[in-house]
Amino acid sequence: MTITLDYSKALIKENDLEEIKHLALASKDLLENKNGAGAEFLGWTNLPENYDQDEFLRIKEAAKKIKDQSKALLVIGIGGSYLGAKAAISALTNNFHNESCGDDQVKIYFAGQNLSESYLIDLYNLLKDQDFSINVISKSGTTTEPALSFRIFKDLLEEKYGETAKERIFVTTDKEKGALRDLALKEGYETFVVPDDIGGRYSVLSAVGLLPMACAGIDISQMMEGAEAARLKYKNPVFEENDALIYGALRNILYKKGKDIELMVSYTPELSYFSQWWIQLFGESEGKNSQGIFPACGNFTTDLHSMGQMIQDGRRNLFETVVLVNKSAKDLTIKEDPDNLDGLNYLVGMNLSEINRKAFEGTIDAHVEGGVPNIVVEIERLDAYNFGELFYFFQKACGFSAYMLGVNPFNQPGVEKYKSNMFKLLGKPGY
Ligand code: PA5
Repeated sequence: MTITLDYSKALIKENDLEEIKHLALASKDLLENKNGAGAEFLGWTNLPENYDQDEFLRIKEAAKKIKDQSKALLVIGIGGSYLGAKAAISALTNNFHNESCGDDQVKIYFAGQNLSESYLIDLYNLLKDQDFSINVISKSGTTTEPALSFRIFKDLLEEKYGETAKERIFVTTDKEKGALRDLALKEGYETFVVPDDIGGRYSVLSAVGLLPMACAGIDISQMMEGAEAARLKYKNPVFEENDALIYGALRNILYKKGKDIELMVSYTPELSYFSQWWIQLFGESEGKNSQGIFPACGNFTTDLHSMGQMIQDGRRNLFETVVLVNKSAKDLTIKEDPDNLDGLNYLVGMNLSEINRKAFEGTIDAHVEGGVPNIVVEIERLDAYNFGELFYFFQKACGFSAYMLGVNPFNQPGVEKYKSNMFKLLGKPGY
C-alpha cells in the first residue's frame, strides 16, 4: 500500500461511519455517474487513464528544449495554475533546488501569484542576466496577476533575444478562447491545453502541472502511473475499503460535531506547498452557501512552537489531518560528542526521521488528549509515483466530501467579488 488512512484517533463514535455511509455512497454515485452539480468539470477523474498521449510527449520534448536553451524557467500562474506544480517541485526536488542545480538542470521561479512590486523587480533583476524561458499558465487566459507578470517578463525576453524570444515562451491555456490563447496564436508560441472539463484546482495532472514538473526533473510518467493506481483504487464501491470516501465521510462527521477548522499537518518542510495546494482544493471547493470546513495548515515541528498552544488548549473547533511520510529519502544519524555539553548523547545512533517520528507520536497523543481529532494519511515515500497517488486521493476525497456537504465542488463564484471591486477601482472598461 502506498497510501494508508488511519482514523483510530479521529475521536468519532463506533457507529458514526455506519450512519454516514449512505450519504457517502450517494455522493460517490453523484460524482462517478456525473449526476451532481458541476458535473461538466469531472474530466480530472479519468485523466490518468485518458490523457492526451501526443501532448504528453510534447510536454517532455518542451521540457528538454527548455533545459537545453535555458538555465531557468519562469512559471507564471496563480491558484490552480501554479500550486500543484509548486507543491510537487517543493516535495520532490532538493530543498534548495535553485541553489544546487547542476549544468543539466533548470532553476524554477514563480511569478503571477501576487501583485508585489518588489517581488517582481527582484525577480526581474535576478533573471535579466540569465538564459531563461517562460511557461505562462492560465485556463481563462484573462487573470490579471499572471497577465501582468507575463507582460513584464515577455518584454524582458524580447529585449534579450529579439525575434527568437518566442522560442522560449510556452503557453498553457484554453484550447479555443481567452486573451492568452489569442496572443499565443498571433505570436506563434507553443501551446498546451487545459481541458474544458477540468477546473484550475483539479488540473495538476494536466499540462498545467506536468510541464513545470518535467522541467524540474520530475518523472511525470511515474506520476501518472501513481495517479492511475489511485483512480482504480478509489473507484472501489465498498465504502469500508475506499479510503478517499472514508476521509470525505470523516470530515463531514467531524464538521457536524462542530469541528469547522481542519489543519493539514506535515512534519517535513518539503510538504508545505502541498498543504497550500490542498488548502485551495478544499477551500474553493467547499466554502459555499455559508458552509464548509476552513482549511489551514501546520508545518510541524516548526509550528508547534507558534501554534502549538492554540491547538492544544484553544477553542475546541479544529481537527488535524496529518500527511506522514514513512521513509525519508535521506539519512542523517546523530553522532556521539565526547563532551556531551548539549546533553544530546541519548540520541546517538538515531536518525532525524526516527526523532521526527517520535515528535509525531508525542504530538498526536497530546493533541488527541486535548480533544483534537486526528486523521493520518501516510505515504510510503516522497516520489513521483506516490505524489501522483496523493494528488488524486485528495481530489477524489474533495469531490466526495463537497457533495456530502451539498455544495458544487467545481465552481468558485466567491472569487469573482474581489476582482470586480478591484476592476471598478482600477477603472477597467465594463466595470
Ligand atoms: O481553481 C480555480 O479555478 C482557480 O483557483 C484558478 O486556478 C485561478 O483563479 C487561476 O485561474 P486561471 O488559470 O484562469 O488564470
